[in-house]
Amino acid sequence: MSKLVSKPVCLADFEVHFLQSLDRIARDYFTSGANQEQTARDNVEAFKRYRLRPRMLKDVSNVNMKTTIMGNEIDFPIGIAPTAVQKMAHPEGEVATARAYYVRIRPPAASSMNTCMIASTWGTTSIEEVAQANGSGLRWFQLYVFRNKQITMNLIQRAEQAGYKALVVTVDQPVVGKRLTDDRNKYSIPSHLKLVNVNTDGLRSVHNPLDTQQSTESVVHQYTHSLMDSKLTWDTITWVKSFTKLPVIVKGVLTGEDAKLAVQLGVDGIIVSNHGGRQLDGVLATIDVLGEVVEAVEGRVEIYVDGGVRQGTDVLKALALGAKAVFIGRPVLWGLAYQGQTGVEEVLRIVKEEFKLAMALSGCAKLSDIQPSLLAYDRKYYCKL
Ligand code: FNR
Ligand code: LAC
Repeated sequence: MSKLVSKPVCLADFEVHFLQSLDRIARDYFTSGANQEQTARDNVEAFKRYRLRPRMLKDVSNVNMKTTIMGNEIDFPIGIAPTAVQKMAHPEGEVATARAYYVRIRPPAASSMNTCMIASTWGTTSIEEVAQANGSGLRWFQLYVFRNKQITMNLIQRAEQAGYKALVVTVDQPVVGKRLTDDRNKYSIPSHLKLVNVNTDGLRSVHNPLDTQQSTESVVHQYTHSLMDSKLTWDTITWVKSFTKLPVIVKGVLTGEDAKLAVQLGVDGIIVSNHGGRQLDGVLATIDVLGEVVEAVEGRVEIYVDGGVRQGTDVLKALALGAKAVFIGRPVLWGLAYQGQTGVEEVLRIVKEEFKLAMALSGCAKLSDIQPSLLAYDRKYYCKL
C-alpha cells in the first residue's frame, strides 16, 4: 500500500510511491536505462520540446477516444507495453495487469478500460494464465526469438491458442544493453520467481547463476546471451510471418530505412521504440523518431510508439505526429507496485482522462481531429543532457 499521504492524481505520483516502496534491486531494474541513461531521460524530456497550437470554439461536449488497432476496437489509444518480471513489482504481477484490461462488469467502469495489453516473453506468469486473467480483453504477445527454433515455435503456437491477437517481435535486443545499476547490483531474479514461459537448461542457470561471483554481467545478460538469438536478421521476420497467421508487428524500429524494409517484408505494424532507453544509449527519443517513420511508411501499416509517455498531452503529441496509439511501460509497473490491479486501473484511468481533457482543450472531439498542425516544435526547448 501507498506511503503517499494522498491518493495519486497523476502518473508522477505513482512514481514517487514506487521509488519509496520497492526494494533497491527491483527498483533499479525497472527504472534503469542503458549506460548514462541519456536516451531514457530524453524519452520523457523530448515531449516538452513539442508545444501545442489548440483551436477554439470546436464543440467538445462529446469527446470520442475510441479507435482500432490491427482491426480490434479499443476505448482509448493507450496500451500497455510489454515489461518483464512483473511479479517483482507486485505478487500478482501479470495477472493483475491482465485483469485491469478485462472488460469490466462492475459499473461504472464497464468496458471503460478496454485497451490492449502486450504480454512479455519474460513474464513471471504463463502465456495461458495471462490470457485467462485477461478474458475477452485485447492482448498481443511480445516474442523474443530464441536460438533454439523449437522454443520460439512453441511460444508462437501457445500465444495463438491462448487468443493473443498479434505477435510483437522485439528487434532491438539482439544482445542486452548495458545497465550499470543492474551490473553493480548483480541483478538476479528473486529465487521465488520464475520466467515461466520457457523451460530450458539455460533457464535453470538464470535461477542458479553459477558465476555471478566472478561475472560483471547481470542475470539479464547471462540469460539473454545463453538463450537468445543474436543472429537475428530481417529473414527472421519473414520466417515468423510464414509460421503464424497472426499479424506481425516489429517493436524497436528507429529509422525510416528500417521502417521501409519492414513494410516491404509485409509486417503488419511497427512500434517505434528504443526499449525505454535500455538498449543503445544515445539514440533519439522515440517522439523525435516518429515523424521520420511515419513519413517513410506513407500510411501502409499502422505505427505505434512507446517511451516516455507520462501524461495525456504526450499521447496527443504522439497522435499528432502520426501514431495510431501509444504504449506505456514503467508507469504500469508503478501502478502495479502501488496497488496491483487497482493501481494499474488507476494509472490507465488517469492517463485516459488526461488525454480526454487534452483533446477537449485543444479543440479535438475525435481522434481524426488530431493533426500535425496541433504541434509547434522549437529547439529552444531542448533539454540539457
Ligand atoms: C521493458 N521493455 C521490454 N520490451 C520488450 O519487448 N520485452 C520485454 O520483456 C521488456 N521488458 C522490459 C522491462 C522493463 C523493466 C522496462 C522498463 C522495459 C521495454 C518496454 O516494452 C517499452 O519499450 C518501454 O518501457 C517504454 O518506455 P516507458 O513507457 O517505460 O518510458
Ligand atoms: C529488459 C528486457 C527483459 O528490458 O527486455 O529488461
